[in-house]
Amino acid sequence: MIGNWKMHGSHLEAIQRVQKLSYLLDPADYDRVEVGVAPPFTSLRSVQTVVQMDDLRIRIAAQNLHWQDRGAYTGEISASMLAKLSVSYAIVGHSERRQCFGEDNRVVNRKAKAAMRAGVTPIVAVGETLEQRERGEATAVIRGQVSGSLARIPTEAIQDLVIAYEPVWAIGTGRHAAPADAQEAIAGIREQIRGRHGSAADRVRILYGGSMNPGNVAALMAKLDIDGGLIGGASLDPDAFAACVRYWK
Ligand code: 13P
Repeated sequence: MIGNWKMHGSHLEAIQRVQKLSYLLDPADYDRVEVGVAPPFTSLRSVQTVVQMDDLRIRIAAQNLHWQDRGAYTGEISASMLAKLSVSYAIVGHSERRQCFGEDNRVVNRKAKAAMRAGVTPIVAVGETLEQRERGEATAVIRGQVSGSLARIPTEAIQDLVIAYEPVWAIGTGRHAAPADAQEAIAGIREQIRGRHGSAADRVRILYGGSMNPGNVAALMAKLDIDGGLIGGASLDPDAFAACVRYWK
């Protein structure tokens, strides 16, 4: 379960949020579920300090990165910089980056490969818009995003990857995908990966994202191919996020 905090809160709020989360979770929760948070860049260092100081089993994720390791790229952050801050995961290709910042599959692919080179596991986000779904194009759009975003990534690397299926119409709308529909889309992604990479597909973790909350998490997680959640709004509230982590309770 990863909480994507998006552009919310200062580093001081991030410290409070992660501390509160750590009070709410116990060792049995971490044994069962890998827990991560993706704060804004300005909070990564603070969150890392809290995690290290209190020896927390909370993984740190970045929300973005640049594909080059260094250079004259004003305003950008590289994967190796993130790795130095104990960042384990980086979200790439979030629909907000695709839509607001013009990122296409080629850029997402470069970012995923850069993350891997630095030992940061990419969480590759894909998902169709409402218009695409209504036109019956959802499957084709997702297929294109998966093949473009994962191009030229070898099978050995694919198995460690995380993919997040986030239908754009479900993000921040309070309208989550029906569990059966999310399962169908995610099973389709797994089959697509199996077609190219064989049994590595069984090891790839595929998350669902889009208005996931304590009220719907159990029904989504009950589906065979849904391995976890990428949670936006509900992750800003430690009580709600902790309840999602403990979805089986
Ligand atoms: P919400 O949970 O707020 O719908 O956001 C989902 C998301 O975009 C996570 O990356």
